[in-house]
Amino acid sequence: TEGIVIAIDGPSGSGKSSTSRGVAKERGLRYLDTGAMYRALTWWMLDQGVDVSDAAAVAALVDRPVLTMGTDPDAPTVAVDGRDVAVEIRGKDVTDNVSAVSAVPETRERLVRTQREIIAAARAESEGIVVEGRDITTVVAPEAPVKLFLTASAEARATRRSKEVRTTDVAGTQADLTRRDALDSSRKASPLTRTADATELDTTGLDLGQVITLVVGLADAAR
Ligand code: C5P
Repeated sequence: TEGIVIAIDGPSGSGKSSTSRGVAKERGLRYLDTGAMYRALTWWMLDQGVDVSDAAAVAALVDRPVLTMGTDPDAPTVAVDGRDVAVEIRGKDVTDNVSAVSAVPETRERLVRTQREIIAAARAESEGIVVEGRDITTVVAPEAPVKLFLTASAEARATRRSKEVRTTDVAGTQADLTRRDALDSSRKASPLTRTADATELDTTGLDLGQVITLVVGLADAAR
């Protein structure tokens, strides 16, 4: 039998990554961070000196780099042309430019194709996969039996993200999250949206363990 797909969308800082990894670990599933793929492609474009505000320039090059994603939730990896870029993709340069790259339709076509290949392989070879991003429930895996939309207040999201990136500038972090959310929600190509059949989970007052327990419960019910 084919493995299960758990699709998780939501804005930055809503707890998607920690929740997805936690659920995957608890149930022996693979884990795919699609945001890391958009970041990796953005890192490569910047490294090549591409002007990422030029959509045609981005579109012309999206197929060039080879992206390799490791889907073990205990040690997820991301490589571009064989180079480990896990640290580089979290830097300010990439964070400031990723929304521009991800708004280009050719970027999305290329990465969605790669994501579906990774999902198909995981379903064939394992118990299944938890996939997180902005368009997983709507575009990448709309047929997934478990579809979640995570939210949290802007303050809670900024506080969490600040801890993750080890900054004390919570206000600056909140401004950055708000800017990216606005870009990601307003773009023409696959904007961040919640579909009627995705379960919305507001994680503001919950700790990570509580959220993981809720999602594991939904996953077990769907199998
Ligand atoms: O999740 P993360 O913050 O790492 O994602 C970085 C960026 O990648 C987002 O701000 C968004 O522009 C883009 N993204 C996307 N679709 C996804 C995942 C991420 O457009 N499925």
